Amino acid sequence: MQFDSKKVISSLGGREAVTKMDSEERAEALEMLRTKELAERVSHPRTVSEIDEDVCTRAFRRGVGTLYCVGATTPFGIRQANEGLFVQRLPKMPKQPGLIDYFKLRFSPAHHLLRSADLALMAGMEEEIVFACLLHDLGQVIMKTDHGWWGAQLLEPYVSEKVCFAIRYHQALRFFPDDTVNYEYPKDYNAIFGCDYEPPPYIMHAYQYCRNHRWYMAARLITVNDDYAFNPNHDVEIEKFTDIIGRNFNHPKEGLGFDNTAVAHMWRSIAMPDTPL
Ligand SMILES: [Fe+2]
Ligand SMILES: [Fe+2]
Repeated sequence: MQFDSKKVISSLGGREAVTKMDSEERAEALEMLRTKELAERVSHPRTVSEIDEDVCTRAFRRGVGTLYCVGATTPFGIRQANEGLFVQRLPKMPKQPGLIDYFKLRFSPAHHLLRSADLALMAGMEEEIVFACLLHDLGQVIMKTDHGWWGAQLLEPYVSEKVCFAIRYHQALRFFPDDTVNYEYPKDYNAIFGCDYEPPPYIMHAYQYCRNHRWYMAARLITVNDDYAFNPNHDVEIEKFTDIIGRNFNHPKEGLGFDNTAVAHMWRSIAMPDTPL
């Protein structure tokens, strides 16, 4: 969803009215506006070319990582909207941060990930699937475009090959229904991608490759547990998954971002997103 600041300010009653609001009131008004806009878009989805016309009306690209821009749509919860019109100062990270530190200090509130993992847990799925669900959209923090690939790369040194595969390919599988597990094309996608959207060839190839792979179902189960309903009454804390993380995530002793792997810089970019160069 685009986030036009002039439009937002005028819908909140003008610049003067906005300055008088405290951050709580601002957040609430903004959230209401976003909910209304999303409902309108879902009930009256636009075409691919209509969505494309919005490109030059934003101050940022649609694929920008959710950590870097207020107004970037986020499956991580409503943090961006709650912050009002500006990005906020981020809390300091510990010197040797682990995955839970990132969840609490950089991905929070991460509702979407926590709920997806909890859905898998409640359905009695195997631990690796629960874990893959917990991490499946992490790539979006840094880059929403091709978030499956970004997320898999970010996690590759620390998780099993199967978890990494599932995260990479869930991105392509989202567009393809599978009756055997009751997975349908998400209705929201008509609003997000356009009602006449056709996945590009590289997504079709990734789908075909994954469809014939022995770990197809691992990637597929991520899409099954993807929390498209965004149920606000389903609250889960990261602590619920502490043991699962402990058993499935290979923490570097130097801390994530400082372990000199090929992806350490990606974690540092999440830890220090205000560093200009
Ligand atoms: Fe995803
Ligand atoms: Fe997701």
